[in-house]
Amino acid sequence: MAPETEARWRSRATDSTVLNEDFTNQWWRSAVVYQIYPRSFADSNADGVGDLGGIAARLDYLAVLGVDVLWLSPVYPSPQADYGYDISDYRAIDPLFGSLDEFDRLLHSAHERSIRVIMDIVVNHTSDEHPWFLESQSEKASPRRDWYWWRPPRYGMEPGAPGAEPTNWASIFSGSAWEFDHGSGEYYLHLFSRKQPDLNWENPAVRHAVYMMMRWWLDRGVDGFRMDVINLISKDPGLPDGHHLPHQPYADGSEYYVCGPRIHSFLQEMRHHVFAGRQGKCLIVGEMPGVTVDEARLFTDPASAEVDMVFQFEHVQLDQGVSKWDYVGFDLRDLKASLGRWQAGLAEVGWNSLYWSNHDQPRIVSRYGNDKEYRVASAKMLATVLHLHRGTPYIFQGEELGMTNALFETVNEFRDIESLNQYAAITGSGVATPGEALAALRLMSRDNARTPMQWNAGPWAGFSTSPPWIQVNPNYSEINAAAAMADPDSVFHHYRKLIELRHTEPVVVHGSFHMLLPHDEQVYAFIRRLGDVELLVLGNFSSAHAGVDLADAAEWARAELLLGTPPELESSGRRLVLRPWEGRVYRRGIPGRGAVEYLDPI
Ligand code: GLC
Repeated sequence: MAPETEARWRSRATDSTVLNEDFTNQWWRSAVVYQIYPRSFADSNADGVGDLGGIAARLDYLAVLGVDVLWLSPVYPSPQADYGYDISDYRAIDPLFGSLDEFDRLLHSAHERSIRVIMDIVVNHTSDEHPWFLESQSEKASPRRDWYWWRPPRYGMEPGAPGAEPTNWASIFSGSAWEFDHGSGEYYLHLFSRKQPDLNWENPAVRHAVYMMMRWWLDRGVDGFRMDVINLISKDPGLPDGHHLPHQPYADGSEYYVCGPRIHSFLQEMRHHVFAGRQGKCLIVGEMPGVTVDEARLFTDPASAEVDMVFQFEHVQLDQGVSKWDYVGFDLRDLKASLGRWQAGLAEVGWNSLYWSNHDQPRIVSRYGNDKEYRVASAKMLATVLHLHRGTPYIFQGEELGMTNALFETVNEFRDIESLNQYAAITGSGVATPGEALAALRLMSRDNARTPMQWNAGPWAGFSTSPPWIQVNPNYSEINAAAAMADPDSVFHHYRKLIELRHTEPVVVHGSFHMLLPHDEQVYAFIRRLGDVELLVLGNFSSAHAGVDLADAAEWARAELLLGTPPELESSGRRLVLRPWEGRVYRRGIPGRGAVEYLDPI
């Protein structure tokens, strides 16, 4: 990295954060990360698939938005069975996306704009077309046989017969987690699709190979990693059977692989071999399905420094029942209880990542907001509430435009392996009719987030000059970056202001967090406090006006309004009134404070 770029970052960090050596090392506390899903971001070579050239051409857009870090979903060579989360070569770029030279240029151009780049690294599994797996599969005596989880059929059962799988575990992408290999008469483990065999992290040679590869990327200049499902790498080596789920052909084995017995030791070893001597330079984010607050504290405690922050899933599963396809409705009180618990749990030790959206989640404005008459208001309010929490916010491409769920009409319009497997499994077994299965996909499918980025009102939304790999959302003529950038009241400019606020207002980064009104069904409210500065953050999660009853409402009504529209009705004594889906941030100084205590029980 060029010294002047480093200096710019340093001065940015010291301008905007408390002058404390610990915090300047943890530069990511005041950063905002932007996630790019490359195949859907921008296509520069007219093949209908986004690529590195497309990203390079849009760096100025990202600089205007003001983000500090780009997280690139996988761009390595891959058969694309799970769109890059099935890697067949860890040290190259898929020609679909470009070349290593182009990657280096992109990294350089991003750094020139003071934007760091982190790679998405998928090391719980490889592609079944990775040379490691091909070698492992080739013969039982292969030195790489033990790099994956191979097991014989269940004792006394015919190889390949139903129920002969070594354990009863379900794959996260439907069906059994084991695939039978005719060549050797054994099965291999795949927690995701059969095209994604799990690596055996018990084998030190596997770990060594992974660490070398990670160092190779850091030496190239990348600024860290988002580590895919990293808390699944340690399996209970006994591979016990899991608990059966009602009406399901396979069982839940997660207690034997989520945060398994050696997870902390593996991550500490990784820290030592990969990140030693690079402290304060990298960002390490661990995607961790099923992680609890207590575990997250252990993972992110700077004393052990296994990862800088984790992606937890609780707050994006609140509207789901037995599975993600089972929609049970959304209750704001659950969201407050969940996020409030995470804020409290990581208040003293550790750090939160903050997100509503990514390439695995439906669009947030269609989910917890209102994507019809209040699309703009609710997208802004959701952003305000999230970005004002304590933690590092993540924006998924298009979220800053208030992009909505797709409007797929038939199953043929879906592309995602998880969605298509689910459709086949539940229609095939008669658990659901095709109509019911389609309705579930429309609501929860990952493809909702993967429609092309909407750049302008031109053909294919300016994403490509050819038909894209997945259809463009028809609302692109109204919702697009060109229109948003030209409109000072747009969702885009609201995100820009939120990012700027984080860069300039230390209380947003370092302030304590106090949840208010935990039982209110309409309003999300909290206080941030640092020294003698206090912020009040309010969000109306409903299409009706909402009253916010606070002992010191009249005082807040006189405070500086940092974000939000000036109130239309105002405080009558103890009440502030919010418009439908309105978000507001007030700021006040509190010299000699002590009059009001906000420590509500959560
Ligand atoms: C992570 C990724 C997801 C992928 C899965 C398997 O959850 O975010 O897209 O399908 O891991 O790699």
